[in-house]
Amino acid sequence: MNNEELLQLLHSMTHQEKLGQMTQLTPDLFDIDGQFNVTGPLKELNLEEEDISRMGSTLNGTGAQRVKRMQDKHMKEDRLHIPLLIMADVVHGYRTIFPVPHAMSCSFNPALPEEAASIAAREAAAAGVQVTFAPMADLVRDPRWGRVMESPGEDPYLNAKITEAYVRGFQGSDPKAEGKVAACVKHFAAYGASEAGRDYNTVDISEGILREFYLSAYQAAVKAGVKLVMSSFNLYERVPAAVNKKLQRQILRKEWGFDGVTITDYSAVDETLSHGVCQDGAEAARRAIEAGTDIEMTSCHFYQNAERLVAEGKLDEKLIDEAVYRILRLKNELGLFENPYKDADEEKEKELFLCPEHLEAARRIGGQCAILLKNENKVLPLSGGKLGLAGPFACVKDLLGPWALTSPDGVSSIYNAFCARMGMASLPCGMTDELPSLTTGIRDVPDQVEEALQALSGCDTVVVCIGENVADSGEAASKVSLRISPNQEKLVRRLKESGKTVIAVVLSGRPLVLTDILPHCDAVVQAWYLGTEMAKCVTDVLFGDVNPSARVALSFPRDVGQCPVYYNHYRTGRPLSGPDDPDFYKSRYLDCSNEPLFPFGYGLSYSEFSYSPITVTGGSQITAQVTVKNTSSRAGKETVQLYVHDVVGSVARPVKELKGFEQIELQPGEEKTVSFQVTKEALSFPNEDLELVFEPGEFDVMIGSDSAHVETVRVTVQ
Ligand code: NOJ
Repeated sequence: MNNEELLQLLHSMTHQEKLGQMTQLTPDLFDIDGQFNVTGPLKELNLEEEDISRMGSTLNGTGAQRVKRMQDKHMKEDRLHIPLLIMADVVHGYRTIFPVPHAMSCSFNPALPEEAASIAAREAAAAGVQVTFAPMADLVRDPRWGRVMESPGEDPYLNAKITEAYVRGFQGSDPKAEGKVAACVKHFAAYGASEAGRDYNTVDISEGILREFYLSAYQAAVKAGVKLVMSSFNLYERVPAAVNKKLQRQILRKEWGFDGVTITDYSAVDETLSHGVCQDGAEAARRAIEAGTDIEMTSCHFYQNAERLVAEGKLDEKLIDEAVYRILRLKNELGLFENPYKDADEEKEKELFLCPEHLEAARRIGGQCAILLKNENKVLPLSGGKLGLAGPFACVKDLLGPWALTSPDGVSSIYNAFCARMGMASLPCGMTDELPSLTTGIRDVPDQVEEALQALSGCDTVVVCIGENVADSGEAASKVSLRISPNQEKLVRRLKESGKTVIAVVLSGRPLVLTDILPHCDAVVQAWYLGTEMAKCVTDVLFGDVNPSARVALSFPRDVGQCPVYYNHYRTGRPLSGPDDPDFYKSRYLDCSNEPLFPFGYGLSYSEFSYSPITVTGGSQITAQVTVKNTSSRAGKETVQLYVHDVVGSVARPVKELKGFEQIELQPGEEKTVSFQVTKEALSFPNEDLELVFEPGEFDVMIGSDSAHVETVRVTVQ
């Protein structure tokens, strides 16, 4: 359709038809083949059967056959034959599941999320999905928050690079193309800043902090051409995001020029009543539409109130027309008016789901997302010895992670992968009862430590798979304790005391507090949830078929009491000069170091690298160079990181800010020179009046292998 035809369509619509386009409902309301249960969900929403035919989109109803059936029915019943938009949470894969997004960010390699997203898009498109509710760009500093597993992490620069890569992967250059879907970046804005890491809790941040840290990844998605933006559940400046004019009209649309579709999160318009900022559904609808919301997800306040609001002169009809136009235009851009099924195809599903090419990618990518946190005496990679496995996650098959909309059937456990890799029918194994989710009220595994020691008595090396249940991270899965449960901890300690080499593989959706187990482990691999091929990824890393290269993207706290602990904090008036600072009146804890257990950017390799002295010049921008050499006998990857510290600013400046990174692959003995340029634009920040400014002066330029290990040179940029 051309623009004129789109406008004609818009003008031929009734008010209710327009408001239907602005409403998204769950698929059960569309695809029950005329068997409407008016005493069930329809009644709760105060809808009649005929209302359903006017609705514009649905969420999380997928599968080629089901989508075609829903679309067919809808196209017959909708007076103007406007296709439904089929949206779903394709977060880290559709059938072939990739590492959870946080793990992807830890790869420090944007090419990997881009590749994973393009495969996810191919599978999802075949299953009838047209829009994915991804990527999630929410910056996070508090690992108590369950949605860390979906977040790119604590850094504005890394988050932006990873987020734009996801958008490119999902959408390609044209989301209409076969095997592509439109992306919806979420949750705008600052959802990751919920107080004390409790999901859906209050967010209270200043506009300076919002602009300095939290917005960059959403903005990167917009610059990358993302088609939709989802607003968040939280407050910003005491106003819920769904009805927040400052966020949506001012920042998103006016400042960034976003012209695509906005959608609320699940029932977020309705929740403005629970927040106590709207009196009733009519006020919620008016405020959300005035704030710039185009689609209301799963509640019907727009549909039920907006026509009356317009008639009473309380809502400008122009706002509705603008929203509906954007929705119709998106449908048109996806080619739905010509082909409402887009790529939905049962044959393609069979061909693509879990096909060898996708599984190969999942395995290759997964291996690059596990972080080697400790490797004392180079006990890894494994070589020979009598090996056993232990721990509540050794035999678990659900390694897909939250938001995998598929079953883990057919996924191999880490134990099975070890047996296969070693060509053994079985291996000694102990204390493998699975750790239940905290939602069951059970907080630990049974203490079977002595039995495990018995079973493993003949082993000299034990791989202990510990962590948290997969259901204990993700949406609504916040926790106050991040410790490894006492019986898991005891297992690790007793194995070490019995003289074995202990290798911990940690499965979790967030950094856990590893302080107590660390001294009892010779090696620790943070494995997250790596998806369909996770078990093989773990053996690949442990046996050295893959040389670890991933890095910490959210600092690992020593103690939950430090949270939030992150590397790019501001200075204080009383900074600690070091752990032995004799001055009592300094910013510190009496019972814990200020430093995290593992800092941002940290991660080991089986190779070793040396850094040359860095060369840095100032002037009109920063130019820096370093030569890195692989001094070991193994090929490996090193992620060279450049940080900047603005020595004096008109407002406080972070102690370090990542401004560049590059992952290089080096053969034994090989060296490469890495060059960085940091422009004045990249050195700009929001000043006291929130204007983005560059302030000339001195900058400390730091290059190193992580945020805590850098060489510094001071230069002047004018
Ligand atoms: C709620 C979640 O916050 C959001 O991320 C998701 O996309 C929607 N539900 C739809 O499932």
